[in-house]
Amino acid sequence: MSVDQRPEIENLLAEARTFPPDPAFAAQANAKPEIYDEAAADPVAFWERLARERISWFEPFTTTLEWQLPFAKWFTGGKLNVAYECVDRQVERGLGDKVAYHWIGEPGDTRTLTYRDLQREVSKAANALLELGVRTGDRVAIYMPMIPELPIAMLACARIGAPHTVVFGGFSAEALSGRINDCGAKVLITADGGWRRGKKVGLKHHADEAVSDTPTIEKVIVVDRFGEGVHMVPRRDLWWHDIVDRQSDDCPPVPVDSEHMLYLLYTSGTTAKPKGILHTSAGYLLGTSFSHEMIFDLKPDDVYWCAADIGWVTGHSYIVYGPLKNGTTGILYEGAPDTPTWDRWWQIVEEYKVSILYTAPTAIRAFMKQGPQYPEAHDLASLRLLGSVGEPINPEAWLWYHEHVGRGKAPIVDTWWQTETGMILITPLPGVTTTKPGSATFPFPGVEADVVDGNGESVPLGGGGYLVLKRPWPAMLRGIYGDDERYRQTYWSRFDGLYFAGDGAKRDEDGYFWLLGRVDDVMNIAGHRISTTEVESALVDHRAVAEAAVVGVKDDVTGQAIYGFVILKAGQEPTDALAVQLREHVAYVIGPIARPKYLMFVPDLPKTRSGKIMRRLLRDIAEGRTLGDTTTLADATVVETIRDNTGVAEE
Ligand code: WT7
Repeated sequence: MSVDQRPEIENLLAEARTFPPDPAFAAQANAKPEIYDEAAADPVAFWERLARERISWFEPFTTTLEWQLPFAKWFTGGKLNVAYECVDRQVERGLGDKVAYHWIGEPGDTRTLTYRDLQREVSKAANALLELGVRTGDRVAIYMPMIPELPIAMLACARIGAPHTVVFGGFSAEALSGRINDCGAKVLITADGGWRRGKKVGLKHHADEAVSDTPTIEKVIVVDRFGEGVHMVPRRDLWWHDIVDRQSDDCPPVPVDSEHMLYLLYTSGTTAKPKGILHTSAGYLLGTSFSHEMIFDLKPDDVYWCAADIGWVTGHSYIVYGPLKNGTTGILYEGAPDTPTWDRWWQIVEEYKVSILYTAPTAIRAFMKQGPQYPEAHDLASLRLLGSVGEPINPEAWLWYHEHVGRGKAPIVDTWWQTETGMILITPLPGVTTTKPGSATFPFPGVEADVVDGNGESVPLGGGGYLVLKRPWPAMLRGIYGDDERYRQTYWSRFDGLYFAGDGAKRDEDGYFWLLGRVDDVMNIAGHRISTTEVESALVDHRAVAEAAVVGVKDDVTGQAIYGFVILKAGQEPTDALAVQLREHVAYVIGPIARPKYLMFVPDLPKTRSGKIMRRLLRDIAEGRTLGDTTTLADATVVETIRDNTGVAEE
């Protein structure tokens, strides 16, 4: 199905309600309509002005943008330190006693870190890394639960110019070792584990398994979350409290070039091998912090809560770097929204007087399913702005969020972006933009987006096609680690001179952007990107499986759910027990987020004459639709055989 034939867009466009800004909100808003004009008149000059004003340069930059498509360099000649900007500078401007993070552990334990605390802890952790021989440019892997040591470790790396790669704590040992080996990390920082849904979830055994296969890792630093000991490998493993606590709290930040690598973050693409998305220092810091201040209307006494995990880009950009650079007081919550009960979030909002909440449609739909009684039982009057990210938000979820969480008052910002874009690129500006439920509205100032057809021609308003970006922006990825060719191929080869985001989009008659989901073989499960190929490889990796095909199907809560079609090897019995095993196997190889919700054992798969699996037909089957065009099938009877098969094993 082409992007403009999708049924969901019709539903979206039928949602005609508009929400103009409240004049009282607009009067106090950080964003003013004029910034669109300033940015449009000269985008490079716009970013240059902001970079000069907002960053304390150790050395000022000489060139704003060097653009040799597809490679961008921003603010060259300049030197800065990202940790200094995020931490020390806040202390220097008198915010030492301001809370940087209210941390809340799932069992109810809490910690408060001021900017001064953060400065001390980051400096000590940085000195510990130096003691272990980590130098500017060396990579450090981080595999941790949502505890304060996670942002501290990231900032410690930034302080000495050692790029970090954070691997989400829900990923498997294999996923961790693959990422470590791709970037050649020297040190791994991890923890014994963390709390999730009332249970202790161990991480160290995954870390051990991973490190048995990563020759570059010399040392492993382990945070003690549970206080009950864990197996430590002599001469390799060190407790965080042993090595960090005894360090000096003086560690001068290392000035690095604007284009120095700040971090790598691995994300799924259309192949089985995750891509190391490379972000650098100055442009990323500017893009994330400026967008954070404008889009979330950040004021000095806001209590801001981005409820993502730091292991994803949302956490990197909008829990750590953007907010800290703005001197924000933020919430860090370790656990799940339903533990101990479905009102945990609303208790936190009430208790900490959270004023800005940023979460994902999948969470909103999960709350919706439980009913409004949970948010209604709490005083949410402190909430003045709400955000959404990760996937298209359906108008019903938008309206529920608006009514039951925002009490009909708080503006909602539906923010489109990607790991690759580093910062939010399509979004309303609160106080300026009239919103429409389900639309991410317009490109951020200084960003130029378009919707194009298969030939790269701009599609007139009212039409659908592929979302592209037309000029470089400061927080953009600088490449895929170690693979310039893949970078070029993935993002810059589909359309000449345009960045191809992999998303379908439509603009309505008013020019509003409506995102329509991925157009490539990437699924979006609860706001997280997982490639079909990655899951297929994990399935085929099991001894019973001959062949597998995976598609994403519509799901009420997670947006999409994983549906696997499996051909077993001769002699294997298609039993429920085997289906359970295969699901667990995928969770083991990739991580629990990739566990297929549905599995169907099939005798064959629909393929073209050239042998390419026709996922479109599998999606039709999985979602119970009439089949699309089957004329290119090598064997037309295959789909009927699959359709007649009723043995779907559901989680
Ligand atoms: C993909 C990027 C960026 C943080 C979270 C995900 C989808 C993201 C929206 C939105 C519609 C969205 C896109 C995009 N997406 N935000 N507001 N509306 N779709 O980061 O894992 O890199 O995934 O998420 O499909 O390409 P990511």
